[in-house]
Amino acid sequence: MYRTNTCGELRITNLNQEVTLAGWVQKARKFGGMIFVDLRDRYGITQLVFNQEIDAALCEQAAKLGREWVVQVTGKIAERSNKNPNIPTGDIEIIASKLTVLNPSETPPFTIEDESDGGDDLRMKYRYLDLRRTPVRANLELRHRMAFATRSYLNENRFLEVETPVLIGSTPEGARDFVVPSRMNPGEFYALPQSPQTLKQLLMVSGFDRYFQIVKCFRDEDLRADRQPEFTQIDCEMSFVEQEDILNIFEGLTKYLFKTIKNIDLPDFPRLPYADAMKLYGSDKPDTRFGMQFVEIKDLTTGKGFGVFDGAEYVGAIRVEGCASYTRKQIDELTEFVKRPQIGAKGLVYVRYDADGSLKSSVDKFYSPEDLQKWVEKTEAKPGDLILILCGVTEKTQKQLGELRLEMGARLGLRDKNQYNCLWVVDFPLLEYDEELNRYFAKHHPFTGPKPEDIPLLETNPGAVRANAYDIVINGVEVGGGSIRIHNSELQKKMFSVLGFSDEQAQAQFGFLMNAFKYGAPPHGGIAFGLDRFVSIFAGLDSIRDCIAFPKNNSGRDVMLDAPSVIAQEQLDELYLKIELPEK
Ligand code: AMO
Repeated sequence: MYRTNTCGELRITNLNQEVTLAGWVQKARKFGGMIFVDLRDRYGITQLVFNQEIDAALCEQAAKLGREWVVQVTGKIAERSNKNPNIPTGDIEIIASKLTVLNPSETPPFTIEDESDGGDDLRMKYRYLDLRRTPVRANLELRHRMAFATRSYLNENRFLEVETPVLIGSTPEGARDFVVPSRMNPGEFYALPQSPQTLKQLLMVSGFDRYFQIVKCFRDEDLRADRQPEFTQIDCEMSFVEQEDILNIFEGLTKYLFKTIKNIDLPDFPRLPYADAMKLYGSDKPDTRFGMQFVEIKDLTTGKGFGVFDGAEYVGAIRVEGCASYTRKQIDELTEFVKRPQIGAKGLVYVRYDADGSLKSSVDKFYSPEDLQKWVEKTEAKPGDLILILCGVTEKTQKQLGELRLEMGARLGLRDKNQYNCLWVVDFPLLEYDEELNRYFAKHHPFTGPKPEDIPLLETNPGAVRANAYDIVINGVEVGGGSIRIHNSELQKKMFSVLGFSDEQAQAQFGFLMNAFKYGAPPHGGIAFGLDRFVSIFAGLDSIRDCIAFPKNNSGRDVMLDAPSVIAQEQLDELYLKIELPEK
């Protein structure tokens, strides 16, 4: 037996017991004739004491221990004279009587403690060492608990976990596929699933009724803090349901996780139509932990000689509480912020409503105090508030104002990581028009059903058709999304034609699904949560990387495995692949 106990469980109540522990040496320090060692395992840290006066040979052996050596220690539990209230085992120590080195270690490239001295790149290269650190491991423990609770909730609700293949054909979710060449079918490729979308729909045709899978998905897209090329979905599908049934079950899952993991009782989630989300927050994933909703003031700004506002389709304002005292420098910073290429506004107009009731704006030349007073009334500003205004083409400006709103929310400390605001965004448009390619794309995916009352618009005004599609948003993060599907092969065919597929193309790519729909497809719908994002929110992380055991870096590389990498010529030959890179 390697150990009788773990390094996290011994307390003052265990006094005088003889125990054997095994773990890693986090730290060893000499103090007079004593050596103190912090022994660490997954469960915690326990202090070991080697005393020169009790056993000189043992003490000599302990003096050789280095950081991260793996050791086994036997000894008696004693009360510490110098207690450490910061760790649960801080009242006791082990007076060692036997020490076995199970494996020595080279000096690790960074300190393996809660606060490490290792930079990001180094910790990524030695991720297995980084994972020894409690804060990193705690994120993976949380992930495990969330996945476990999810399985439990879905099982209770009669969902069956079914595995679907990883080597499939292309699934159209809007990102690029990762592809895998087939040796047995020269010149042909599998694609890794961007999601098991079509397969879970086929399981509904098979009568599985309620499916789920905690499943890896792969998307070859540019990385961001909330995106990884491979990530995990809690993927679900249900038969004989309407949107309302799905929202209820998965609002239930979300509440269940908050309750079981964090002991938080969430109120019912508000439902916000997509059009309102854009109008009020300039985002389809609004952070509703704070207000600062948009107020349209175009009607109050036109015809006063200010060409920029007069020529704009949209003029929108946010009221920032208590910020009238912002200095010139702070306003300039905000102007720079909205002008950054990622945001792309041309400029920023402000009105300061000073505490003494006076009004000062960056457009005083064109607008009288009486004009400005009307803006104040419409935005419901109070003395001491700052009004920030952007103008331009409607949707683009709303998005820019949305970014500014988030920035102001962050500056004012309104985005508290310990507050959780969940909502459903519903009634998404079915289609999105791509100006460059001159065609419609499915906003969610091509299997999403239109609202029945909007079906006639597919012929006349496809852009106005709303979908039975919904997203679950927590604190400004799209945690999940789904829809009620088309289950009728004729409507699915029509949808493909609106998306610009010829009958032959649709048949070639999705024939399997349309054929399946001819054999009794039940009405069905579903949703997928991004598990990585969900865990990040629970853990208060800024990047989903921190809750993934072995993530990719921003260039999509695994620096620990050094992947991707070139492969041997024989492997290429076997696959009939020829690599020709463009000259640099
Ligand atoms: P969707 O594409 O909206 O829907 O994805 C569902 C959820 O998956 C997460 N997600 C990601 N997480 C990390 N990195 C990524 N690159 C990434 N891409 C997506 C998000 C998102 O809300 N088949 C449909 C679902 C359905 O209709 O049932 C789908 O995949 O949290």
